[in-house]
This record gives sequence, structure tokens and C-alpha cells, in this order.
Amino acid sequence: MKFFIDTANLDQIREAQALGVLDGVTTNPSLMAKEGITGANNILKHYVDICEIVDGDVSAEVIAVDFEGMVREGEALASLHPQIVVKIPMTEDGVKALKYFSDAGIKTNCTLIFSVGQALLAAKAGATYMSPFIGRLDDVSTDGLDLIEDIRLVYDNYGFETEILAASVRHTMHIVNCAKIGADVMTGPLSAIKGLLKHPLTDIGLAQFLADHKKGNQ
Ligand code: G3P
Repeated sequence: MKFFIDTANLDQIREAQALGVLDGVTTNPSLMAKEGITGANNILKHYVDICEIVDGDVSAEVIAVDFEGMVREGEALASLHPQIVVKIPMTEDGVKALKYFSDAGIKTNCTLIFSVGQALLAAKAGATYMSPFIGRLDDVSTDGLDLIEDIRLVYDNYGFETEILAASVRHTMHIVNCAKIGADVMTGPLSAIKGLLKHPLTDIGLAQFLADHKKGNQ
């Protein structure tokens, strides 16, 4: 399972990269705005800064909602750095743009997936990744993990190569459960990734080992 971090915060990206388990980064316009990154040039520069920190894929989202605009913006984003993945929303024009970029050999991430039907379309259009938003489904009393499970089944039925990128991951158990179901990738906050480290028996066991070592060496 690949681990992506879902943020545009450079310090958090550096911290996740330093941990040695990071495979990529996802951003979206809200995450960029949260970091105060505004204006076309600053946004483009920020994507390059992120690419220089991590080794893997970096999703950069188009703002255009029409096919021509998505193609124009996506090509500009893809030309920024070889690690850039063009993030495209699941709309009619978005599906056409996914097919265009797939034919052009440019990696894509289809975002805002909330149904198996949308996941099927993204795969048919040749998306590299597609992002079901599990936390946002949980927010409206619908189990986001059920969607991942259903998409896994459909993709496996037909051998689709599009990777299931579980997004809108909010906490550590989302990561664990996505791994059990077989999501190819998860993208989540640093706190959810670091949560995987924690177990009180590890802390108690380590304290005991250190105490015993100290006693034995007095
Ligand atoms: O990867 C999508 C993500 O950024 C959305 O997360 O927490 O805003 O639903 P959230």
C-alpha cells in the first residue's frame, strides 16, 4: 500500500518524507489556500517545491471545469516536473480530459469520487489513480469503507489498472481498514500516519527493557 500525505504544508511533507515511508503527496485548492498559497505563479512554484522534497507522485489539481481549460492547465502542470500527476474532477468534461491525458501518457488522479459508477468511468477513461472520499461519505452517514470494498471488487473483476487512492482519510483506523480492504494507496494527514506508531504495550515494553538493561549494568 502506498502512503501519500494529503497536505500542501511543506514542514509536514518534510516530516513525513524523513520518516522514510512516504510515496507521494496529494493537494487540492482548499489545502493550497489553507497554506496561504495564492496567485498562479506562487501556486506553480509551490508544486515544484513539494516535488523537490518527495520522491513520488504529487497531485496538482486543475481549476478549469471545461475540457479545453482542463487540458491547457493540466499540460502546464505536467510540464512543471516529472512527478506531477494532474488531478481532474469527476465530471463529464473531466472524464474526457482523463482520456486525453491517458492517451498522452500523462498521469492523472480523478478526484471527488463518491460512487462505484464514477469509479468505473474513471477506470474506463484510463485514470492512473482515482480518489474516493471516504471521510466525506462517513460525514453523511454512509460508510466510506464500503465504497472502497465495492470498487476493489469491480476493478478486480475486470483487471482495471487504475489505482484506488483512498482519500479524505481522517484517522489512523481509516488507514488500517483501507489496507485490509486492499486500497492501493491512501492519502491522509500526518497525524493519521503517525498514529500507526502508537501502542501502549510498545511504550511499556521499551521502558522495561531500558530499566532492566540499566539494572544489569550497574
Ligand atoms: O484528498 C481529499 C481530501 O483533501 C479531502 O479531505 O478531510 O477535506 O474531506 P477532507
